[in-house]
Amino acid sequence: MSAPARRGKATVVGAGFYGSTTAQRLAEYDVFETVVLTDIVEGKPEGLALDLNQSRPIEGFETTVVGATTTADGGGYEATAGSDVVVITAGLPRKPGMSRMDLLEVNAGIVRSVAENIAKHSPNAVIIVVSNPLDEMTALAQQASGFPKERVFGQAGVLDTARFTNNVATTLGVPVGSVTTLTLGSHGDTMVPVPSACFVDGKPLADVLDAEKIEELVTRTRNGGAEVVALLKTGSAYYAPSAAAARMARAVITDSDAVIPACAWVDGEYGISGVYLGVEAQIGAGGVKKVVERDLTASELEGLKEAAEAVRAKQADVATL
Ligand code: NAI
Ligand code: 2OP
Repeated sequence: MSAPARRGKATVVGAGFYGSTTAQRLAEYDVFETVVLTDIVEGKPEGLALDLNQSRPIEGFETTVVGATTTADGGGYEATAGSDVVVITAGLPRKPGMSRMDLLEVNAGIVRSVAENIAKHSPNAVIIVVSNPLDEMTALAQQASGFPKERVFGQAGVLDTARFTNNVATTLGVPVGSVTTLTLGSHGDTMVPVPSACFVDGKPLADVLDAEKIEELVTRTRNGGAEVVALLKTGSAYYAPSAAAARMARAVITDSDAVIPACAWVDGEYGISGVYLGVEAQIGAGGVKKVVERDLTASELEGLKEAAEAVRAKQADVATL
């Protein structure tokens, strides 16, 4: 059997729970030549990289993981130079009782400086943002990097959709593989579930669950992040979130053209313009190739438009942060 072709370089900024698990998933895919993990905590990314490299003989992958400590003035970013794809996880996570918006100011400072340094060292990279509040941090990373909008997008919808699918599957006691769901909109209160795109074994969700139960599962999905935060008591979810971001990075490096939910720049699709919003996007080399529209019911479309207006003003404000 011939060895899989490896190519390119992925950088994961922030070696906390989200970043380290993302780096692990990216390395274990064995599709990248190199995965770089950075953090401002001295030695942490180097230590995690060494640990990940030592797992290679056991897990059977050849991707090399490089750890690099970075400084506030941009020191250490040389290790990230020439990255094809960069996942920004740097920033504080939520504590119980905190909303994603409580993280706005502190994470804005972090994401701005990270995006500027990435743009300097990897001018052709695709940036995937995960730091919260997600919709605002995605808009900020695009502004700070100066990259074209299709080369900067955020991760939220893959995660929210996976949570919805898991909630439906566990409620019905069926395999997750038999369930298809979809959420659009923003990562937060204006997440928009799309029941018309939800199926269980090919049957519309509304045929297998009553409206009240579906609403209950939607609410649980919308609060999915907070549910994990409340249980962990310190920090937020990272297994499902890292799986979501890693899938997006893989779609970029393999130029897979996968159509997946993403916080992408919307320019006329669904009659909405000029905002980063959770929509389905075709993702491959160069980032978002196309925002893919589907037929929505009138109430789903209304929900998406409301979500766009809810995040529009906040995204405009990030320029001042
Ligand atoms: P964490 O606290 O475990 O890790 C954050 C890491 O960022 C820390 O190691 C910290 O030292 C590092 N950091 C801070 N400033 C930095 C800088 N300038 N450069 C490089 N690294 C820097 O937090 P966790 O759990 O990894 O979460 C990271 C972010 O992801 C949070 O903002 C969290 O809210 C967000 N998140 C987003 C999700 C989504 O669906 N979009 C889901 C889950 C978390
Ligand atoms: C999550 O949804 C907190 O955004 C984070 O898990």
